[in-house]
Amino acid sequence: MHQIHPDCQKILLTEDEIRARVSAVAKQVDADLAGKRPVAVGILKGSIIFYADFIRCLNMPLELDFMAVSSYGSGSTSSGKLKIRKDLDGDVNGRDVIVIEDIIDSGFTLACLKKLLLERGASSVTIVTLLDKHERRTEDIAPDYNCFEIPDEFVVGYGLDYNEKYRSLPYIGILKRSVYEK
Ligand code: PRP
Repeated sequence: MHQIHPDCQKILLTEDEIRARVSAVAKQVDADLAGKRPVAVGILKGSIIFYADFIRCLNMPLELDFMAVSSYGSGSTSSGKLKIRKDLDGDVNGRDVIVIEDIIDSGFTLACLKKLLLERGASSVTIVTLLDKHERRTEDIAPDYNCFEIPDEFVVGYGLDYNEKYRSLPYIGILKRSVYEK
């Protein structure tokens, strides 16, 4: 059992809980996309640990690719902007794409990404998220597969950060308020 980081007030999801659920969701995706040869697009950096665990539970043949994006603006599709900091290496035209994200919050990032990938000619875009903060959604988008619905708390670990810290914790923890309200 991993010791809880002193900046975390509690462990929300343990390593075992994450492993079991990630593998169950991957089995479902494997069955639903049987016969396809998708491109698995990881959205840097938060998704890296989930991405690595998730794709290793898939049996289908895959190509791997990555994007890094940042969102600016109000979170509404009309005034917000998505900046691409690192684009895909490959062409998604005519390809089935699985977008793998650590968290969906307002939904702005994934709504923009889905639109962009379809504009680039992707045959299909399947969204897989580790975490869904459903109560914060402002955009009309839902992941096709989500591992855990979570409350509106500041979560870190398993790829997620606060000021680039805590990404390598093997569990999802709730950060103490005193850490980010300083
Ligand atoms: C997080 C997360 C999503 C986005 C979700 O990325 O990985 O990309 O925010 O928020 P939204 O649904 O409100 O758009 P972040 O900007 O923290 O970057 P990181 O993955 O590099 O930590």
